[in-house]
Amino acid sequence: MIDLTAPVGEAFPPARARTPAATLSSDAPVQSLDGMWRFRYSRTVADAPDGVEAPDYDDSDWSEIPVPSSWGMPWHDRTLGADHGAPAYTNVQYPFPVDPPFPPDANPVGDHRLRFDVQELLPRTELRFAGIEGAATVWLNGTLLGTTRGSRLPSVFDVSDVVIAGANVLVVRIAQFSAASYLEDQDMWWLPGIIRRVELASRPHGGIDDVFVHTDYDPATGGGTLTVDAVVHGGGTAEIRLAELGVVAPAGDTLALDTVEPWSAEQPRLYELTVSTPAETVTLPIGFRTVEIRDAQFLVNGRPVLLRGVNRHEHHPDSGRAVPRDTVEQELRLMKQHNVNAIRTSHYPPDPYLLELADRLGFYVIDECDVETHGFGLVGWRRNPSDEPEWADAYLDRARRMVERDKNHPCIVMWSLGNEAGTGRNLAAMSEWIRGRDASRPIHYEGEQDCAYLDVWSRMYAPPSDVALIATFDEPPLDDPDLDARRRAMPFVLCEYAHAMGNGPGGLDEYQELFESSPRLMGGFIWEWLEHGIRTTDADGRPRIGYGGDFGEVVHDGNFVIDGLVSADREPRPQLEDLAVVFAPVRLTIDPAGQTLTVRNRYDFTGTGSLAFAWRFEAADGTATEGRIEVPEVAARAQADAPLPQEALAASAGGAGVLTVSAVLAADADWAEAGHEVAWSQRSTVTSASLDSTRTAPAAGAASMTGNAGIATVEPRTGALVALGDIDVADWRLELWRAPTDNDRGRGWEERDEPPMSERWTAVGLDRLVSRLVSFDADSDGVRAVTRVSAAAHDWGVLLDCAWTGVVDGVRLDVSVMPDGGPIAVPWARLGLSFSIPGEFGAVEWFGRGPGPGYPDTGQSARLGWHSATVDELQTPHVRPQESGARRDVHAFRLSDGKGRALRTGGDPFALTVRPWSTEALAAATHREELAGDGRTHIVIDHLQHGIGTASCGPGVLSQYVLWPGPARFQLRFTA
Ligand code: GAL
Repeated sequence: MIDLTAPVGEAFPPARARTPAATLSSDAPVQSLDGMWRFRYSRTVADAPDGVEAPDYDDSDWSEIPVPSSWGMPWHDRTLGADHGAPAYTNVQYPFPVDPPFPPDANPVGDHRLRFDVQELLPRTELRFAGIEGAATVWLNGTLLGTTRGSRLPSVFDVSDVVIAGANVLVVRIAQFSAASYLEDQDMWWLPGIIRRVELASRPHGGIDDVFVHTDYDPATGGGTLTVDAVVHGGGTAEIRLAELGVVAPAGDTLALDTVEPWSAEQPRLYELTVSTPAETVTLPIGFRTVEIRDAQFLVNGRPVLLRGVNRHEHHPDSGRAVPRDTVEQELRLMKQHNVNAIRTSHYPPDPYLLELADRLGFYVIDECDVETHGFGLVGWRRNPSDEPEWADAYLDRARRMVERDKNHPCIVMWSLGNEAGTGRNLAAMSEWIRGRDASRPIHYEGEQDCAYLDVWSRMYAPPSDVALIATFDEPPLDDPDLDARRRAMPFVLCEYAHAMGNGPGGLDEYQELFESSPRLMGGFIWEWLEHGIRTTDADGRPRIGYGGDFGEVVHDGNFVIDGLVSADREPRPQLEDLAVVFAPVRLTIDPAGQTLTVRNRYDFTGTGSLAFAWRFEAADGTATEGRIEVPEVAARAQADAPLPQEALAASAGGAGVLTVSAVLAADADWAEAGHEVAWSQRSTVTSASLDSTRTAPAAGAASMTGNAGIATVEPRTGALVALGDIDVADWRLELWRAPTDNDRGRGWEERDEPPMSERWTAVGLDRLVSRLVSFDADSDGVRAVTRVSAAAHDWGVLLDCAWTGVVDGVRLDVSVMPDGGPIAVPWARLGLSFSIPGEFGAVEWFGRGPGPGYPDTGQSARLGWHSATVDELQTPHVRPQESGARRDVHAFRLSDGKGRALRTGGDPFALTVRPWSTEALAAATHREELAGDGRTHIVIDHLQHGIGTASCGPGVLSQYVLWPGPARFQLRFTA
């Protein structure tokens, strides 16, 4: 059997291994071998059949598999009717003993076979695998070509003497685990397979085997330089041609070009370069740009740029690590539409197609090497490969294969050595090799905080308070003064921050304000772009999106893999909409008097000329007027004022309403159509009173000892509301708890000694409050019920005083909340009232923030105005159910049953949550598909809410958003 203890792949004879080179688009013929292959899954190496490499091996009883794809995906079992094993999820821990370099005996094997025809035999032929996850052994026509390691890197074999005209048989045996698995401990599914394209490429004699394009741009002169190194097979020179600039020259010359248009993520100007020999022409888009670090700043084309980034993994809910090209395109367009300008390819080099698109659409990319050994951290970093000599070649091999493959992409502005691999000489050696090969890009790695062999200082999840110190060079010094001085001269990036798991992250604004406060701060990359949900079924065969633990894993990390701005199907989560506002490259503000618009341009290179500006005024009754605003062009990083047009002023003067100004694309871009909104801002003069003229009207209808006040019926023995007019009301109670979010279940990094917030809540009983009637009074003014709300075994409590007063058409409720009894040192999740009404009430209209949800530290994208939705539409479909979907700043809402009945509520602005299930059901569900309506419409009206934070990984709720217990008063009005 194959030796799986070698951390580097080998070819037999070694001459078959192709020297790592750039992925090039050539006019030499290429034959794709993607498609359906024969496939056999074996649970262990010992179970794998012998002799599969023989061309005449009988594979007729094997199943099939699409190439590329990950073999363990449930899609295969469902669609192809075969057991192909299962995915397994771990974050830090290895799913096998830490026993390097040995893989476990329980090591699944996937055998892949393909028969294919070759029409015409050409002199030199290469077999190229763009990515094989696991350790592969490859045979062509029965001849062993070699083995591969490095799952997200290309492996290329010279098969000139093996390939034949006519029928060929290619066999790829992949063992899931090998020594190399110790280097691939990224936080994601373990998913072996042929994950990227496979092709047979003819390599002409005298063809171009590699190209290295070196460009730069001088902002002072507007000129650039171009040097193209070409490796021509058999020696000889190549000619380069840059038709647009009239350049025709031999490769190898350094050309000074007087005028070039630079490449940046904002203006991704590409030129088409051809490199030719008589035998072959390759074509590649190139960009002129310079990346430098100067004065502790990260500069592109001489200017400090701010990275508004996301971390992106490769994942698809059906095909696993193989992501279809149209999905990648869709993702990158979505990123651009949401003002993302940078991608960290966490934590391995991506499918090369992503880089092509990033060049074209405009993203700054950190290309990260396929190295992570995080699981050694759990054993005190003992025998960490990053510092063990026997792994040195494997580290260098990976660095080299990444740099050689990707070196020509203008989008790549930094190389990253990997992620969470501790520190050690093998990482230092990678850095040295990269520097020697490509000095034009700085080197990034987060795991080495002394930054001895790095060019930028990077951290993950640092709280804003730490970032604030770094912004002003006030960080605590390193022990070694030389290293400290070196690091103090570096710019700082948050390679991961704002963990987008479940409902959240909260606190994005605070980071962005810091990033904009100091040119030392390069910005950061949200963790993470994408949830890694897998489409599967539950034990009863019902469809659901699965996460860690759903596939029989021995060890796993649950739903920690579901932490993205978009779902696995690339559906935006509310936090993506919020991020778009926080990242907006243009900031708009309306002055307090409502006369002037201020435009702050936060683009680094681009004026506002490509934008159009508009206003819209929505009156309190929902009617709207709109028009355009003339704004003179504002230069990059500049700011200007523009008067609002007379029509807008006149509309606003007509009464209470909301004025919205926005900046939209004036013309179609590659990633969005004209009219796409880039930024907006609002000014509101709406108050609850302007929405509710009867609010202060006198009492109507007599109250009585039966508990009627206006339309409210209050139960005299409990103080609970039981009806509003003819609408029956149940479950009336004070609500201080919420179904814990993923962030509530995390331990904030600054409060690591405390249990997670969700446990602190249950420890004091917020999830099981009971009520005792203290007093009940009724007179002709109304009904007043005082209850004491508390939890079993505790002496803390809350006095809830509800005074109901009849008003025209309805009832007014004055609420007072007063802590009573022993103190609790635990924030409340919310301070609200909840109740349920019949489930037919399923259509909601509200004036407040929307259409999306918001909490005190989220919801930046929710804007004031009238909104409507069904109760179902108000739910955020989190994979693991949790508190979500509140609408903030609600001044009034109307809940109707479609048959003419409606419940209306107004009063002091509140947060509104409406659900077809109870808080308890929401908290108990582990997967969204378990939630089903219970026939009631459940309503929570929150006077106050605790923030969301990002404690699932990172700091908890920032102090300004913590809801400490305390007295409160508010007023509501119900009409039915
Ligand atoms: C980081 C790590 C990521 C991911 C994240 C939490 O430590 O680099 O890969 O695990 O935490 O989701």
